[in-house]
Amino acid sequence: MFGKRTNDPSSLANPAPKPVAAPKKAGAAAPPPTQAAPKPAAAPAQAPPAASAAPKPEPESEKQRSHSEEYYDVKTTVFNALIDTIDLTQLSKLDAVAAREEIRDIVSEIIQLKNVVMSIAEQEELLEDICNDVLGYGPLEPLLARDDIADIMVNGASTTFIEVEGKVQKTGVRFADNTQLMNICQRIVSQVGRRVDESSPICDARLPDGSRVNVIAPPLAIDGAALTIRKFKKDKLKLEQLVKFGSITPEAKAILEIIGRVRCNVLISGGTGSGKTTLLNCLTGSIDTDERIITCEDSAELQLQQPHVVRLETRPPNLEGEGEITMRNLVKNCLRMRPERIIVGEVRGPEAFDLLQAMNTGHDGSMGTLHSNSPREAISRLESMIMMGGFALPVTTIREMIVGSVDVIVQASRLRDGSRKITHITEVMGMEGEVVTLQNLIVYEITGEDANGKLIGRHRSTGISRPAFWERASYYGETDRLAEALSASEVYDEHGNPVGDANG
Ligand SMILES: Nc1ncnc2c1ncn2[C@@H]1O[C@H](COP(=O)(O)OP(=O)(O)OP(=O)(O)O)[C@@H](O)[C@H]1O
Ligand SMILES: [Mg+2]
Repeated sequence: MFGKRTNDPSSLANPAPKPVAAPKKAGAAAPPPTQAAPKPAAAPAQAPPAASAAPKPEPESEKQRSHSEEYYDVKTTVFNALIDTIDLTQLSKLDAVAAREEIRDIVSEIIQLKNVVMSIAEQEELLEDICNDVLGYGPLEPLLARDDIADIMVNGASTTFIEVEGKVQKTGVRFADNTQLMNICQRIVSQVGRRVDESSPICDARLPDGSRVNVIAPPLAIDGAALTIRKFKKDKLKLEQLVKFGSITPEAKAILEIIGRVRCNVLISGGTGSGKTTLLNCLTGSIDTDERIITCEDSAELQLQQPHVVRLETRPPNLEGEGEITMRNLVKNCLRMRPERIIVGEVRGPEAFDLLQAMNTGHDGSMGTLHSNSPREAISRLESMIMMGGFALPVTTIREMIVGSVDVIVQASRLRDGSRKITHITEVMGMEGEVVTLQNLIVYEITGEDANGKLIGRHRSTGISRPAFWERASYYGETDRLAEALSASEVYDEHGNPVGDANG
């Protein structure tokens, strides 16, 4: 064990019987976030966080987790004694496991010296909490360790929500104060070489595991920093799983696979967290292995399985406001990289124009996602992105361009019961006068609600037996499979009545 005990020999030899008053100790000697390894060492923590965790037999459910104030007082005292004792520069040289061991040793010793009365279980929790504060992301650690969480949303120090199985729920996780929360935000973003503070209060970053992070700090966030984490799923959902969850039918799965394989240009439309990226990832699964694919993303989330993939990521401007590489820069550059398919993680600005051009000029099978609530709205979103991008084009020309480029729009939705569905597979057909015509192949409709508030619904086919991409399907020898999938889909008319023998 090591420590800077020579500097402060009294810090340990000062047993105080419990309960111990929490020393008010501002900015304990911790190195700046960039110094430590494996994660940047503890940023100054005034007091240990009021981390909450599950009661012992149920360690995962942070919801119920709450400790007595006494626990937090003890933790503050032990934490401060630890900061006085430990040599953080030395600690930063250790690997994660050794550093954790080291902290555990010192903390155990402090607990003994200070005569703290605690059960073994409480001691274990204290050790874990303190290790998380010094080496990790403090109170966030138990949430980050869980695989079932899709999003973590911290709204200031005392409120944290998570999304599990499509439902947003409040947790008992809280930070000691806004300073500790900001320190943790700072620790996260400094790992990708960024900074978040009053002068640059908005920041995107990524955790080492790939999770997407957004921080917006005071004064913009009024009640303390808001931290949002989209947890990275190592095992991305596959189409089979979407079928299992009831997000699509097996027939719709086959149709999507064919759409992906036969190089239709696809837009995936959906609201926030509706499953767009997941769906895009699934669709790329049916791309042939000999195609050269270039992906452009703001934060690399896609996991393509093909051997010939180039992954590109945008870059925000540096602190001086320079060096930004936008999505548009990437998409334009793609065109010089001999792509066969271009995949844009999220189309949100003028890059819409370049993607449409790429789709139009021989890069069939390109794909992208965009935020909108219906296929029809997706068209107008595209239109306005192009218009706002400063392209002086008449609306009709933009619409013609959209019609000439996009073949299929797949709509993803998160319904009010938390379930995620693919609600439309829609073709972009052409123009009637000034209006873009769309043709639904499959739509999801809600037919009721069960006693538990779960929505009941069905995917229905609109009875189209020859979609506009039939020729393409024929070129790839997929017509039999397509015809089979379409005819096996249940057909109902728009009033919900089954349609005769259209099912074949
Ligand atoms: N059909 C589905 N069934 C259950 N969970 C799903 C489904 N699709 C996606 N998810 C989960 O929902 C979460 C959000 O998915 P995803 O990242 O694909 O959404 P998104 O629409 O791209 O979100 P954003 O708008 O933030 O980019 C992920 O945790 C993902 O695993
Ligand atoms: Mg996404």
